[in-house]
Amino acid sequence: MKEAFSRDLVVMLIRGFYLGKGNSVLDPFCGVGTTLLACKELGVDCWGYDVHPLMLFVSRVKLGEYDVRELEEVSRVLLAAPFERPEVRASDFLRRFFPQHVLEDIFFFKGKIEEIGSGAIRDFLLTALVGAAMECTWARRDGAAVKVRMRKLPPLREVLSRRLSWMRDDVERLGVKRASITVKECDARRMDADDETFDAVITSPPYLGKFEYARAYRVEEEILGLEPPSPEKLLGSPKNPEEVADPELYFNDLSKVVNEMYRVCKPGADVALLASDGCFPKRGVVEVCQPLRTMAERAGFKTRRALVINRRFCTSPSRRKLGISQEYIFLLRKP
Ligand SMILES: C[S@@+](CC[C@H](N)C(=O)[O-])C[C@H]1O[C@@H](n2cnc3c(N)ncnc32)[C@H](O)[C@@H]1O
Repeated sequence: MKEAFSRDLVVMLIRGFYLGKGNSVLDPFCGVGTTLLACKELGVDCWGYDVHPLMLFVSRVKLGEYDVRELEEVSRVLLAAPFERPEVRASDFLRRFFPQHVLEDIFFFKGKIEEIGSGAIRDFLLTALVGAAMECTWARRDGAAVKVRMRKLPPLREVLSRRLSWMRDDVERLGVKRASITVKECDARRMDADDETFDAVITSPPYLGKFEYARAYRVEEEILGLEPPSPEKLLGSPKNPEEVADPELYFNDLSKVVNEMYRVCKPGADVALLASDGCFPKRGVVEVCQPLRTMAERAGFKTRRALVINRRFCTSPSRRKLGISQEYIFLLRKP
């Protein structure tokens, strides 16, 4: 199920909650920064938490402050560098997903980026490189797994050039700092914020039964030299990623998050949570809407609305229909 969380949805929620300058928003599962970027665009202060090194890295790069002329200059130097065969220090895992010439390009550009840039500029270029690499790969994400799908691949240098150009356009569009945006490594079950800090929460927690955050980004992690997240930090994940998801563990974790959200919200704060039912090959659909409503009301929130935004058949591996799984937005308010 493709997630419905998008810039347009977040912008609509920010406007619908009448948030503006002087207000502060929390996204305790910030991922690659959709809420943070929308807040920055609209000039609303925002805090984002996550526990995933790759998500934190990408969010920080997307929200960084850059000099566009400097980005143009370093991109020009990088793309003009004549190719020299690099030493490819890739694991057998990584080698499965790229032909040798693409791996050589990746390691060549990585080496150059490490020579040219430092700090924020280097991370910006590396993010463009990893994005380009993922367009020139045989890797295909399938739930929590990464599989090989052979296909014709475009030239990495061209893809990198295009990515750098649209990433610079995004920086220009967002302009100079209009709001204070903070990205922090923090477990949403134990939030690092004082009581009654935020005017709103806009977030999308991991969906029940979805484990892609633990293992599905290994290719990107290896290119960037980042560690995968430790499973015990991920909401609702069993310690051993081979195990089947346990709805009880998920609801237990989610209820800790809901209690923490209540604690850090100011009275009158609005909360928007995007959630989805779980779909399990043996058990079928596990409903999330009612348990989430019960835990929110037990924490002290008032439910304003639960809007169904998507309905899908939940199917078994043999494509047998097991039920209908719904995706919804929960709107809550702290009295
Ligand atoms: C559905 S995604 C959020 C997507 C996000 N809206 C975006 O724009 O990318 C859920 C996120 O929750 C993070 N996460 C999982 N467990 C967490 C925890 N205990 N504390 C904070 N973040 C967690 C995952 O790493 C993932 O980035």
